[in-house]
Amino acid sequence: MIEFKAVSKTYNGKVKALDNMNFTVGDGELVGFIGPNGSGKTTTIKLLSGILTPDKGTIQVNGFDVSKEPLKAKACIGYIADNPDIFLRLKGIEFLNFIGDVYKTPADERKKTIDDLAERFELSKALNSQILSYSHGMRQKLMVIAALMHKPEVWILDEPMTGLDPKSSFELKALMKEHTKAGNSVFFSTHVLEVAEKLCDKVIIIKKGHKLYDGTLAELEKRNKDKNLEDIFLEITGTK
Ligand SMILES: Nc1ncnc2c1ncn2[C@@H]1O[C@H](COP(=O)(O)OP(=O)(O)OP(=O)(O)O)[C@@H](O)[C@H]1O
Ligand SMILES: [Mg+2]
Repeated sequence: MIEFKAVSKTYNGKVKALDNMNFTVGDGELVGFIGPNGSGKTTTIKLLSGILTPDKGTIQVNGFDVSKEPLKAKACIGYIADNPDIFLRLKGIEFLNFIGDVYKTPADERKKTIDDLAERFELSKALNSQILSYSHGMRQKLMVIAALMHKPEVWILDEPMTGLDPKSSFELKALMKEHTKAGNSVFFSTHVLEVAEKLCDKVIIIKKGHKLYDGTLAELEKRNKDKNLEDIFLEITGTK
């Protein structure tokens, strides 16, 4: 469960990235977050994961206030950043073990998660190589495995499919569906409207730090008969 209440965020006292944003992601909900470049998606996700602090408003994850109980909130969260280029000098397996240590994941559980997910994402052989030698997609897959190591209940993913090949993208979407079916929450940003359409229970559309739509895509399409999703999106966001 994610509750984002009346949140505002300004950078350097100048750029207003979010203005009084409100939304919730319920248990068992898979929610897509869409909006033009620079609309505030990454800012929202960094606030949710505790990397940034809001100027105003409250953010709760599974009932824990991200500012007041940061460790408890973070223990519930699996976070994938928009950029997988980190710890490049470590080998894949060293990075995963480091993350496992941070989250105090028991050794047997850690091994099972790594074995299962590395096989699912066809990354097993590469784990003994330096991350520096990985392609963008391979780094992205490593970030997915790292984010899921501690079996987090709430997944917060910033453009997680970017750079993934069709098989890995399929596997990640399947994992997201399985996770919400089991009663957990998944919140992810994407620019791929077809992904949002196929995958999500609801979408949140933002522009310039304001929410423009919060609901099902079926309802949005019903309101805009005879238009395809791309046209509806371009019209709502005023980018057409
Ligand atoms: N570190 C920063 N310092 C100053 N301004 C920032 C910073 N990060 C983001 N911004 C500004 O905040 C606004 C929202 O940016 P954000 O990265 O949240 O957008 P986004 O929706 O994730 O965009 P994209 O689709 O390109 O990933 C933009 O105007 C951006 O220029
Ligand atoms: Mg972004």
